[in-house]
Amino acid sequence: MKTAICPGSFDPITLGHIDIIKRVSKLFDKIIVVVLPNPRKNPCFTIEERLDFIKRATADIPNVEVDCYEGLLADYCKKKQACCVVKGLRAVSDFEYEFQMALSNKKLNPDTETIFLTTSEQNLYLSSSIVKQIASYGGDISHFVPSCILEDIKNRLLKGSKGNEC
Ligand code: PNS
Repeated sequence: MKTAICPGSFDPITLGHIDIIKRVSKLFDKIIVVVLPNPRKNPCFTIEERLDFIKRATADIPNVEVDCYEGLLADYCKKKQACCVVKGLRAVSDFEYEFQMALSNKKLNPDTETIFLTTSEQNLYLSSSIVKQIASYGGDISHFVPSCILEDIKNRLLKGSKGNEC
């Protein structure tokens, strides 16, 4: 049984993430979407909120599990005996950081490979940060997040601070 890990902050999950998860789900027996801490980011949504959004947004994908972990991705992959980490790459700007993480993870856990999928064309510019910024000013994010969680994200972000600060 081949298990792949789709890691991220998912703050919140977007249609870009969903596109990657759906494509990965066709390539592996089991996919675990895991919310991990990113020390470079200050999340707007709690872990519980993010897990709830991911679970609802991936409910129709049969081989997907949703989880969270307060530690290193490399350790999580060992624990789950995952053969691969899969991440989406949007642009050259993503590459340096993702490359650094992939190499560090390989050093920490040589049994897990990192694979990159190119983001679909329509999601090239999409990010959780853009979604948060638009929604906090009451802008339309219906093209960016799954419809089943749209209202919850909108309501929650309108109540928060403006822009990208959390
Ligand atoms: O969605 P993001 O913020 O780009 O995802 C980055 C994430 C959360 C996958 C990354 O920061 C991570 O792996 N965090 C867990 C801690 C860890 O393993 N850090 C070392 C990476 S070499």
